[in-house]
Amino acid sequence: MLSKLLKVAGIFSEALRDAALFLRFNAYSPFVDPSKRAFYKILIEAHTIEKGLSLPNPKPLFGKDKVRFVMAALSRYDIRHSPVPAHMSLGALQAYANFHARLGVSDPLLDEIAAYLAAWEDRLPKPWQGGTRDYSFNGQPPGDLPQLMASRSSIRTLRPAPLDPDRIVEAISLAQLAPSQCNRQSTRVHTYQDRARIQELLALQGGSRGFADNVGNLFVVSSDICAWGGPGQRNQAYVDGALFAMCLMFACRSMGWGACPLNLAIDHRTESAIRRAGGIPAGERLILMIAFGEPIAPQTRVAFSPRRPAAEIATLHA
Ligand SMILES: Cc1cc2nc3c(=O)[nH]c(=O)nc-3n(C[C@H](O)[C@H](O)[C@H](O)COP(=O)(O)O)c2cc1C
Repeated sequence: MLSKLLKVAGIFSEALRDAALFLRFNAYSPFVDPSKRAFYKILIEAHTIEKGLSLPNPKPLFGKDKVRFVMAALSRYDIRHSPVPAHMSLGALQAYANFHARLGVSDPLLDEIAAYLAAWEDRLPKPWQGGTRDYSFNGQPPGDLPQLMASRSSIRTLRPAPLDPDRIVEAISLAQLAPSQCNRQSTRVHTYQDRARIQELLALQGGSRGFADNVGNLFVVSSDICAWGGPGQRNQAYVDGALFAMCLMFACRSMGWGACPLNLAIDHRTESAIRRAGGIPAGERLILMIAFGEPIAPQTRVAFSPRRPAAEIATLHA
């Protein structure tokens, strides 16, 4: 009975600490770097323009306020923080201008955009990575994807040898193809190859007993809390973080490596200890770890982990 009461009390105290952490680091917090806040704000607003242009029938002169906001916010933004918001904004504004030119629409806003873009051409050379791009369903043979998905398993028989850092970055950039809410890309990946540090991190995680000694490459996936703001977004870090992590595991598989996700179902005390051991900033929420590496042998054994029949989990609503 006492242990149940302690669990309930623990749930409340962890929820309070969740709220405190979110308040301290979320997008509206005055305690976070203004450039970081501006980075996410501009990305999100520029995305509404590119998204509008990707709709079947964009309304002429849609989102005038957003367009003006993006221009003003980008003018105040320090591009040394990251050029991505500038690329996204300028590309979106250019696409917005092109769309209206094709329609033959004229408006003072479009003249403002043209002048604004011309002023930016010297500051950020083209091509601007933003706006819309052509997409073909014929380009990617869909047969590859089910094969890749079926070929992934949690691999706990890993070689401890450190992998080539360039290939690790390659895998991470593949994983960056994961979708993220408004393309805000809040996910962070911390990679470790130092055995002692990995052992320390795995000991705090606790779910790799029996194979921790063979882990020589470890990811900790986290999310920059500052990308998220307001009560409704309090858990979104986990959604984007998990989607990214899934892509990262597929990326590992495509590189020929084995990978095993490792839960971070932990309390704040352990989360802080992992942040300290891993040199992870206080404003990042931890999502999960992934042990990875070359497989011990091409043929290995994995847990069967059978899946439920799809009918058991699927509800087809009328
Ligand atoms: C978020 C998450 C946390 C996990 N944590 C652990 C863990 O701590 N230790 C472990 O050995 N496996 C862990 N796993 C692996 C699961 O046991 C495994 O994904 C599941 O049995 C399905 O098998 P498969 O990955 O081979 O398809 C985790 C998986 C997920 C998605």
